[in-house]
Amino acid sequence: MFPIIARREIAPGIHSLWVKADRVASKARPGHFVILRLHERGERIPLTVVGTEPEKGLVWLIFQEVGKSTAELAGYSPGDALLDVVGPLGQAEPAGKVGTVLCVGGGVGTAPVLPRAREFKAAGNRVIGIVGARNRDLLILGREMEETCDRVYFCTDDGSFGHHGLVTDLIPLAQAEHGPVDRVLAIGPVPMMRAAVAKCGELGLPVTVSLNALMVDGTGMCGACRVTVGGVTRFTCVDGPEFDGAQVDFGELSARLRQYAAEERLAAERFAARRKGGECQCRGA
Ligand code: NAD
Ligand code: FES
Repeated sequence: MFPIIARREIAPGIHSLWVKADRVASKARPGHFVILRLHERGERIPLTVVGTEPEKGLVWLIFQEVGKSTAELAGYSPGDALLDVVGPLGQAEPAGKVGTVLCVGGGVGTAPVLPRAREFKAAGNRVIGIVGARNRDLLILGREMEETCDRVYFCTDDGSFGHHGLVTDLIPLAQAEHGPVDRVLAIGPVPMMRAAVAKCGELGLPVTVSLNALMVDGTGMCGACRVTVGGVTRFTCVDGPEFDGAQVDFGELSARLRQYAAEERLAAERFAARRKGGECQCRGA
């Protein structure tokens, strides 16, 4: 079992979680992810490793309540434990020295951006952050990004903080103020990554994205996380999750993500109803 050391809601429906998982903490590098299972009947939840404290065996994760399993995880506290924390998984290519890097985080996508931004900075790059959310309350990791980056631009869809608009609006601005830009990393919801790739295409900038495909085993065996990149089938869990954005078939990814939407909605509704009725006393009920 993997004990939960701390859990805190850092924005409405978005939680920071520290879990004790010694092996993951000692091996994980920026770009890696883990797959959690809460209990025997729990589905697998892939989450990027945001940070580690290897000497204490601790792993930092951030998740958003989007369905039954993440809503259930939001009810866990110190004293509870997870059944599995499998990882580190995925490719985690060293950032290297590339020059000026734009690190773009859309909403919860800022969580996987932060460790990469820290790594780019540590490798001697100039790092410019762009962080966006629907509104001020949903902006996460702003302080950590400001501590890491040479400059951070903020935006909100409703104009409640920073630029009034989308993260993609700020890519040309950041390029104009800090160019030439050598690399863009854009992580967030699929429509955002798709739009970031289009914007970077217009500006002639290479862009890497991190794909949040559906996953089951996380070891390249089940095919659930299949994506098409450059016309070739790749498995997000073992070949990614980061890929050259210009090569990704986002249409196929969106369709595959919608595949079980009805079942996911039903499971979330049933869980919410049981919780409301006070039935959910035992884990996995
Ligand atoms: P959201 O829908 O609130 O969007 C966050 C920000 O992204 C917006 O404020 C905007 O600046 C930008 N954005 C969104 N759509 C855009 C578009 N069409 N064009 C340009 N910019 C756009 O996001 P959220 O609710 O925080 O995130 C939820 C989604 O993010 C989930 O689907 C989740 O699976 C996904 N996600 C992906 C990753 C990943 O690794 N790719 C990580 C965490 C979450
Ligand atoms: Fe099964 Fe990637 S999650 S192949």
